Parts: sequence; structure tokens; C-alpha cells
Amino acid sequence: MSQVDKVLERADRNFEASLKRLFELIRIKSISTDPDYKDDCRTAANWMAKELSEIGIPSEVRDTTGHPMVVGHRTGENTSGPHVLFYGHYDVQPVDPIDLWHADPFDPQIVEREDGSKMIVARGANDDKGQLMTIVEAARAWIEETGDLPLPFSVMLEGEEESGSPSLEPFLDENKEELSVDLALVCDTSMWDKTTPAISVMLRGLVGEEITLRGPDKDLHSGMYGGAARNPLHVLSDMIAGLRDETGRVTLPGFYEGVVETPDTVKKMWENLKFSEEEFLGGIGLKTAGGEKDRTTLEQVWTRPTCDVNGLWGGYTGEGFKTVIPSEAHAKVSFRLVGDQDPEKVRQSFHDYLKSKTPEDFELVLHPHGGDRALRMDFDSPVLLKGQKALQDEWGKEAALVGCGGSIPIVGSFKRILNMDSLLIGFGLDEDQIHSPNEKYELNSYYRGIRSWIRVFHELSKG
Ligand code: BES
Ligand code: ZN
Repeated sequence: MSQVDKVLERADRNFEASLKRLFELIRIKSISTDPDYKDDCRTAANWMAKELSEIGIPSEVRDTTGHPMVVGHRTGENTSGPHVLFYGHYDVQPVDPIDLWHADPFDPQIVEREDGSKMIVARGANDDKGQLMTIVEAARAWIEETGDLPLPFSVMLEGEEESGSPSLEPFLDENKEELSVDLALVCDTSMWDKTTPAISVMLRGLVGEEITLRGPDKDLHSGMYGGAARNPLHVLSDMIAGLRDETGRVTLPGFYEGVVETPDTVKKMWENLKFSEEEFLGGIGLKTAGGEKDRTTLEQVWTRPTCDVNGLWGGYTGEGFKTVIPSEAHAKVSFRLVGDQDPEKVRQSFHDYLKSKTPEDFELVLHPHGGDRALRMDFDSPVLLKGQKALQDEWGKEAALVGCGGSIPIVGSFKRILNMDSLLIGFGLDEDQIHSPNEKYELNSYYRGIRSWIRVFHELSKG
């Protein structure tokens, strides 16, 4: 039996225990955005460092100005191939609205379907605790079976990914030398479908902005002042309505600068994936796509830029009714970017637009939230081919090279600060409800995810 087969067998024997360990990690309520859970974030970091160290990857918790990082290294004697840096995040999103969960989000459940397939339901089951543990457990199986990892290995786990990663860039800057290795391995993306593995070759960028619009200097009676006093909620709604035209295009001047068309070869490849718009939209209770009218649904989520309102509030929103003209209106708006769109130019254009629409006796207060460029991997990279070979061996099916509508800002930071490329392999599914109630991870994703990484390590170590 080959060495890699022995390691795979070891992982299979370990699987029940691997699952127990994932459950332990999930039970830690590491919600990074909510200060009430600060201690839990540290508990999760401690747990990770202990776990990695016990496996044989000496790791420590490193303080930052926010939640700590976990960093570890193992550069054994008999390794070959590129030195990899495994990245994942141990923090999770808040659980609200809690009423929509079928069980406690931090008490992981295995739910069996009628067809016998099983899923793990919990906050972080996929994003990113389930995913990151696939690499940890793969490393464990290698070390337990062979006494070592096949390639030089470092790890960096973050605790602020879900809250804008404020400490990340300073941390990378300060630890440049230690963390600049040959290749980052990132497990935070999706498969194409339940049976088809995928490598993400595109990530969208992101620009976020919080807007406060102040009008009258106090809340007013809409009978006494309605008509004469301009209503901040109306003004803000007009601003937002004007951001997209009737064809679904974003109207900001210069917004499409840097947007590149997808090469025909890539479009052809994606046609072969047989994307079903009906299934994709049906899965979220919709029938028609709402983006640019002349673009396919897949283009709308992978290769086209967007504008979304993520929050909009003001006035009286409690029980009953109140005839008020509010003094303030608020919104959170984000843009997903593609190609070479420049986040700062987009932000500037957005600011200019908002200012031009603000009445002279109103005050506009803007608060930026993150800005990251989109990313595109090199399609011919040998690393990509090795990843594909490993996934094909495990899943018996060619791995799709896919776009990813989401953003993983660290991938850009790795390139910019550490000059390091990333290999993005993940085992989530679109239907996993990450960031939503009843988040889940297929048991099969966890099982085959572990086995896939064992094979990826093996392929990469061949040099
Ligand atoms: N795991 C996601 C990224 C992702 C989304 C992968 C969808 C595959 C499909 C990641 O944790 C995430 O949610 N990122 C944020 C980044 C933001 C907070 C800067 C996103 O995309 O909104
Ligand atoms: Zn994530």
C-alpha cells in the first residue's frame, strides 16, 4: 500500500474523533464582531494553538490590537516541495435571528436526511471551523502515520475575518519574514456541487460604507412639519434608488472602469458546468435574477460588480405606529468589485454622488468599512494543476475552476504584503447557509475534505 493510502486509511480510522474535535471547536462562541464574546475568541485561539501543538505543529497565540492570531510552524527534515502557509479563521458570524434556528447554534447537531446523507448543523459548521479543521485533521493523519508532514508547513489562523480583519495587515507587516513562504493554502470557499470539487480562481473585491444623513435637528411631528421639513429617510431612499438604473447597472460615474470581460475560454469552461439558474434561485425562494439584464446569473455572481444595500434604518420601527419625521436616516451599502476596479476610486465616486444629492441644510456623515480589490489566479499555474489532480483522485471527477462571489481579503494581502499566491480549495456548498440561521456543512464535505487535503499535501510535496 502506498504511503498516501496509508495516511488516508489513518484519517478514516480517526474520523469519529475528528468529528468530536470539530464539535468541541464549534461549541466555543467565537463571534468576533460582538465585544461580549471577546473571551470566547481567545478561548478558540487557545484551543487551536493547543490542538496544533499536540498534533506536532508547535503553535502559539499571538496578541494583536484585536482578537489574537494563532501561528505555528513545522519544517521537518524529510519534507519536499513548497513551504505552505495554511490560513483559516476561527471566528464566526453572529447568530441572529436566533428564533429561526432549529437548535442552539453552538450545540452542533448531526441531521440525517431521508436519503441517508448527513449534515452538521451549527454556526461555523462550514464557515470556517468545519473547513479549517479539514486541513488540521489532514495534517494530523500525516504526522500520526508517517511521523512527519510531507512538506514544510506553517499555519496562521485569524480571529477577525468576519469583522473586517482590522489587525491583519499590521500583523502581516510586522511578521513579514516569518510568514512569507511559498504558497498559502486557504480553505474558505465552495465546491461546484455536492459531487464536484472546485478550486476558486476568482474572488470579488469589496467596498463598504456606512452612511448617516442628518436633517432636522430633532424628530418632528409629521402633521405639524410634514411637507415643509425634508425627510432624511426620503432623501436617503432617493440616493439609494439612484444607484442602479432600470437595466441593473450601477450608475456611479467611472464605476465600470477596470471591469474586464471574462475570456471566451473561461466562459466555455463554465458553460460545461451546466449551471441551473432555476435551481440556484429556487434554492433561495426566487425565480428571476435581479442583476444586469444582459448578463447570465452566473456572470452576475462571479464576474460582474454589484451594489447592495446591507442595512437601511431610521425613524420609528417598533410596535405600533408613530407619525414621525426622523432627524436621521442610516444605511450600510457595499459594492462587490471585479477585474481591476480600484476600491478607492469607487469609494470616491460614491462619496461625490452622495454629496451631490445632500440638501445644503443637511449633514452627511460617512464611515468607510474596508476596501479590497478583486483577485484572479493564474490559470496555468502548476500549483493549480496539482490541486486539480489531488481533487480528481479523491472525488473521481475533474475539479471545476470557479469564480467566487464572496471576498477573502487576506488573499489580496498575502499577495501585496508577502508576495505570496494562494490556492483556494474548499468543500462548502452554496446551500450551506453560511452567515444565516441553520448553517450546515455536509458530513461528506468534512470527510472528503480531510482526505482531499491529504492528497493535496502529497501532490505538492512531489515538487
Ligand atoms: N467564507 C466567506 C467567503 C465566501 C463567501 C466563500 C461565499 C465562498 C462563498 C468569508 O468568510 C466571508 O464571508 N467574507 C466576507 C468578507 C467581508 C466581511 C470583508 C464577504 O465575502 O462578505
Ligand atoms: Zn469564511
